[in-house]
Amino acid sequence: PGCPSLLHCLESQKIDVAYQCREGYCGACRATLVSGNVQYNEEPLAFVRDGEILLCCSKPNGNISINLK
Ligand code: FES
Repeated sequence: PGCPSLLHCLESQKIDVAYQCREGYCGACRATLVSGNVQYNEEPLAFVRDGEILLCCSKPNGNISINLK
């Protein structure tokens, strides 16, 4: 909440997150969604499997828990 994307949120809390393009096409920011739901700012172009999310272009819908790689 209050962040443009999950990637921004994590960075603002000094958590190191892998990323490259920040625009949803490289897939570098992939993380596992453990619980909760996210909402994409834009439909991501990178391939995302079920249970995975792209941090750079999604925002949490309520409380979520994720596993970073
Ligand atoms: S940083 Fe490239 S898809 Fe997220």
